[in-house]
Amino acid sequence: MEQIDKTLVADAANTAASITTPQGTTGSDRMVVPSTERPRILVVANQKGGVGKTTTAINLGTALAAVGERVLVVDLDPQGNASTGLGIGRNERKVSAYDVLIGAALIEDAIVPTKVPGLDIVPSTMDLLGAELELASVPRRSHRLRDALARMPRNGKQRDTSEAEQRMSQRPYSYLLIDCPPSLNLLTINAMTAADAILVPLQCEFFALEGLSQLLRTVERVKTSLNPRLDIQGIVLTMFDQRNKLSDQVASDVRTHLGDKVYRTVIPRNVRISEAPSYGKPALVYDHRCAGSKAYMKLAAEMIQRERAIRRSAA
Ligand SMILES: Nc1ncnc2c1ncn2[C@@H]1O[C@H](COP(=O)(O)OP(=O)(O)OP(=O)(O)O)[C@@H](O)[C@H]1O
Ligand SMILES: [Mg+2]
Repeated sequence: MEQIDKTLVADAANTAASITTPQGTTGSDRMVVPSTERPRILVVANQKGGVGKTTTAINLGTALAAVGERVLVVDLDPQGNASTGLGIGRNERKVSAYDVLIGAALIEDAIVPTKVPGLDIVPSTMDLLGAELELASVPRRSHRLRDALARMPRNGKQRDTSEAEQRMSQRPYSYLLIDCPPSLNLLTINAMTAADAILVPLQCEFFALEGLSQLLRTVERVKTSLNPRLDIQGIVLTMFDQRNKLSDQVASDVRTHLGDKVYRTVIPRNVRISEAPSYGKPALVYDHRCAGSKAYMKLAAEMIQRERAIRRSAA
């Protein structure tokens, strides 16, 4: 059977350790404690394409909303898959993440409610493709999203909403999930600069770890120069295929080398997950009983549990 490149794994593990484990603390000791004052901002990133970033942002967001959290997904990918997957048609994206980044709109004016109660989205359009070039000479170009979020009312109060929606929007957001494009470009850097932590979906396939060290080195650079609070939230193994021995081998190698940064919950390869976006629905709404939906519910529970434990130990 094909072997996973051990050097690649070890390199990624070392980089992760240098980011998360300075001076005698464990990675989890150092994780930023979620504040009750502001939402926890997570960036879902991996420059590798098609590894499950958008699927994770949509379904983790839905699962968190299902257990009573109030969630805002920010679609920072010109492909707009998170917007489409959450049922936001092109004609509903009047104000988008692009307008927010270039400073033409306030983020609260870009927020659109989804059909999932408690889950809102800042949609994306293809305009984002031009953002990098347009922001090239703008001051604080890496801080555009961070600055926009800092100015946002905590409940993201939306205009032109019904009374029911307004009641819902009285509650502040507890989680922001930023979906990134498959690139370490200015959009991803903006997301990392705005975030508390990064969540990395890793597909259980032979080349899974290719590029992980580069991603972790980018996290390190952003941490040093742009956002000292950026941490690694966790690594989520996606598209796990139990019939494929390689999936097992990838999962156990990643765990051996990256330890407790890897979530216990594994997202299985599941056809219902891949069908759901074409209906503009999260898998959890399309079929909440399928194995994929159950896994994302478990992932949300594990995430909340981890953060509570950190909060308790810090109290
Ligand atoms: N657990 C899963 N089981 C089956 N299909 C999946 C699963 N997760 C994702 N997919 C499918 O794999 C494809 C890629 O997933 P997704 O769009 O979430 O990846 P991505 O990392 O966001 O891609 P990109 O880099 O293009 O933004 C999609 O067609 C999606 O429906
Ligand atoms: Mg995507």
